[in-house]
Amino acid sequence: MKNLLAATVLVWSVPAGMAMPATPTATAAPAAAPGWTGLGRPKDVITARGKLMEGMEALMEPIDTITIQTGPVKNADLLHRNAELIADMLSAVPHLFPPTTNLYDPKSQTPPTIALPAIWQNFEVFYQLAGAASVAARQMAATTGDKPLRAASLKLRGSCDACHALFLRKYVPPKTQASDEQFDFDKALGNKK
Ligand code: HEC
Repeated sequence: MKNLLAATVLVWSVPAGMAMPATPTATAAPAAAPGWTGLGRPKDVITARGKLMEGMEALMEPIDTITIQTGPVKNADLLHRNAELIADMLSAVPHLFPPTTNLYDPKSQTPPTIALPAIWQNFEVFYQLAGAASVAARQMAATTGDKPLRAASLKLRGSCDACHALFLRKYVPPKTQASDEQFDFDKALGNKK
């Protein structure tokens, strides 16, 4: 009873709206132990989150498609199932970003990750965007009717884009260079002139 009271007092002494102190901090890394994959295998963690994202992209294809079609939505069952899977996958997303994977290198053409350091400076925002996206997917899975489905699809895609806009390296299309035009394709392909 005494402990319960102490715990209650502790909870009530945190002012409403104030975040609980975050422990551990990003600088206080856990001691190496089996299971801390972020410590021992950060590149594998980066690969895994890339694969998870690609999996969600594949599941989004039929969901995106209905927004550019007119007429009745025919595959609602498939859309619901895909949205449900995406919601589950999104619940794992923020757990695949330990601070040891903050390895973006702006000088590299092919950095190990395109996740920006801003994630770890604003982790709460990142975490909440993942949660909001998961909710949008869950809502899509429960939506019926052509118009509501199209609206839910746009909302879900918007929730992916919202996070990417803040936390992903901007896409820079490759520049063509003068040397590209002078490139001798025939010679490279071994064709006789
Ligand atoms: C909370 C933030 C967040 C949300 C929500 C999110 N993503 Fe991502 N996404 C990222 C980050 C960060 C990366 C870069 C990962 C890296 O390079 O390490 C990424 C990368 C990707 C990639 C490129 C993967 C690769 O490496 O080839 C695709 C495709 C993608 N996301 C699709 C999606 C789709 C589809 C959704 C919505 C269903 C989604 N994402 C939702 C943060 C998010």
